[in-house]
Amino acid sequence: MSQPHPHATLPAVTAAPSNDHFIRLGGHAVVVRLVDAFYRAMDTLPEAAAVRAMHEPDLGPTKAVLVAYLSEWMGGPKAYTPQRGAPMLRRRHQPFPIDAAARDAWMACMRQALAQECPDEGLRAELDAAFYKVADFIRNTDAGGDMRPHPGRPREVAPGQVAAPHQSQT
Ligand code: HEM
Repeated sequence: MSQPHPHATLPAVTAAPSNDHFIRLGGHAVVVRLVDAFYRAMDTLPEAAAVRAMHEPDLGPTKAVLVAYLSEWMGGPKAYTPQRGAPMLRRRHQPFPIDAAARDAWMACMRQALAQECPDEGLRAELDAAFYKVADFIRNTDAGGDMRPHPGRPREVAPGQVAAPHQSQT
């Protein structure tokens, strides 16, 4: 009697998880609005003043890069990696001292933007959790100014590779 092929019984764990956040949020136009609202919040929330000061006075180019990044990160068109290469966000944020307060200020801006542009509560909660994961991963200093040790090599993604949603892009 023939044995079943050994792979026939393997669960499909290797399939990349699907990420439909881009579509659920409303596509490109809403990502643009979200990024606008995010930087408006950064310009106005008092607790975000230190984070705003890390950025250039003209946010135009930064906005365009964040729109491209978020489109890709949310499972939409691959707009970032062809332009900028692998995200490596931890490395790209290394020049900026990002402590828990900076992380929380960044999150406060994003939460305000999500409250304005994402009426779907379930999606908002998923995006909030995903943003927090990245923001905390990017944190590179503790109060007092000491650099914290790298938590481990980020699972970076080569340009042209598809990353699992909200994970290896960092
Ligand atoms: C945790 C607090 C964070 C701070 C203080 C921070 C700050 C900054 C600053 C100062 C820049 C440079 C902007 C410029 O060159 O004009 C930057 C770039 C960027 N940030 Fe953040 N960031 C934070 C979190 C995040 C998170 C959570 C994400 C994504 C979910 C993100 C995505 C990006 C991207 C895509 C860029 C552009 C990278 C590139 O040059 O290709 N940042 N950030």
